Amino acid sequence: MAEFDVLVIGSGPGGYVCAIRAAQLGLKVACAEKRATLGGTCLNIGCIPSKALLQSSENFHAAQHQFSDHGIGVGELTLDLARMMARKGEVVAANTKGVEFLFRKNKVTWLKGEARITGPGRVSVGGEEYAAKNIVIASGSESTPLKGVEVDEKRIVTSTGGLELSEVPKHLVVIGGGVIGLEIGSVWRRLGAEVTVIEFLDRIVPTLDAEVAKAFERVLVKQGMKFRLSSKVTAAKLTNAGVTLTVEPSKGGAAEEIMADIVLLAIGRRATSDGVGVTEAGVELDERGRVKVDAHFATNVAGIWAIGDVIAGPMLAHKAEDEGVAVAEIIAGQAGHVNYEAIPSVIYTWPEVASVGRSEEELKADGVAYVVGKFPFTANGRARAMGDTDGFVKILADKTTDRLLGAHILGPDAGGLIAELTTAIEFGASAEDVARICHAHPTLSEAVKEAALAAEGRAIHM
Ligand code: FAD
Ligand code: NAI
Repeated sequence: MAEFDVLVIGSGPGGYVCAIRAAQLGLKVACAEKRATLGGTCLNIGCIPSKALLQSSENFHAAQHQFSDHGIGVGELTLDLARMMARKGEVVAANTKGVEFLFRKNKVTWLKGEARITGPGRVSVGGEEYAAKNIVIASGSESTPLKGVEVDEKRIVTSTGGLELSEVPKHLVVIGGGVIGLEIGSVWRRLGAEVTVIEFLDRIVPTLDAEVAKAFERVLVKQGMKFRLSSKVTAAKLTNAGVTLTVEPSKGGAAEEIMADIVLLAIGRRATSDGVGVTEAGVELDERGRVKVDAHFATNVAGIWAIGDVIAGPMLAHKAEDEGVAVAEIIAGQAGHVNYEAIPSVIYTWPEVASVGRSEEELKADGVAYVVGKFPFTANGRARAMGDTDGFVKILADKTTDRLLGAHILGPDAGGLIAELTTAIEFGASAEDVARICHAHPTLSEAVKEAALAAEGRAIHM
């Protein structure tokens, strides 16, 4: 029986990064994957294909609506959706093959098939038994189902089907005003679909700072997206014409019907802890089916660890990757660590939304005294030159010490801009530290500096 120091279950960003880091540290490593290609949700059906389509649809939208403002005429615009989808497939394949290459380079053994923990230090993969001193569960997550709305991945789709449509829907109804709904909704809106988002709460993206979420909603409405907040879907019926949804106020009340030709179900994701053999191995799960771990990613069973979407915390690829590195280092006897106070998150719509650290609501709830510094992109020269002036940078700093506590950006390339503020939080910087750094002109990053200045009431360009 082949024996490994570390056997990782799942090759998503958590699993494959863990496998590579463990191999770099001199351990004998295998990674089991039941999908035909490596890279998990992120590379195959998540981050990468969605960003490929967001980029393509953004280009299409710019050619249709923005080029003429720059004095560029393109004649009659056409959409070759089959080519757009094929390009997305090429981007995915380049990334998944990249992981294969990295496994070969680092001598990580790829075990093909479904893995199951069969006993202490034992894993079966595709019927073959392996011994492992350490087992890392990195089996990820899957779309959360909704009672009364049966997914067929053709007309009622999850994100997976929503990234594979063969024609632009006339009316796409999205259930859930979260990250997936707004990113994939944006793709199809830009390509010409009417998009209606049905959200249970009275606001979109509940994890965002409320002021940013409200401004984001206004921008999306300006782009033509429609929102039905405080509403819930109680049934979905397939008809010849498409799908008929029954919608009610969240608190109950009169029901009405909405017709859609495609419905995207995006009400969250749940841990894939089933099918890995956790219960038989005696590994404890929490009330939401996530694998319970301590601060060092250890489960209650010696030699079994877990990381990524299958444990608690934000379901983000970079969070899974950092946990993969940390657990590999802990297994190798080093001091692996993840700072959960400095994990950025980005919504890749246009404008983008990015945040790190705490929201205003969280600070209020914790009774922390804070100051706010804000700067709008309308006052930033580069944003004006780009024609992308929607949004603002918002910085939250401790009122007494000036330490940065949170940063939230709605605007062009917010995802790139948040890196500076993530670094600042990681290094325990103050708003004044950021304000004193020289930022190149003319760049969008000057809005970050100005927001930091604004926290001290001394922005220059406002
Ligand atoms: P996963 O990537 O889910 O990988 C788990 C792997 O384990 C899968 O390949 C699965 O087949 C395999 N597996 C499960 N059980 C077994 C078994 N028993 N045996 C063998 N293999 C098994 N995050 C971001 O940070 N940025 C984004 O832009 C972003 N966009 C997203 C867009 C979409 C549409 C979706 C759905 C998600 C997106 N995410 C994004 C979230 C991101 O994909 C996840 O947080 C990330 O993939 C989690 O990594 P993971 O390694 O924990 O699990
Ligand atoms: P989400 O948690 O972001 O949003 C789900 C939304 O659905 C919430 O607003 C919630 O209030 C609402 N909702 C829940 N039940 C509902 C119901 N019955 N009817 C109507 N609305 C309902 O989940 P989503 O969008 O499915 O994404 C899952 C996760 O995937 C994200 O939380 C994120 O971690 C990850 N992801 C990250 C991306 C990124 O980093 N750019 C992109 C896409 C996904």
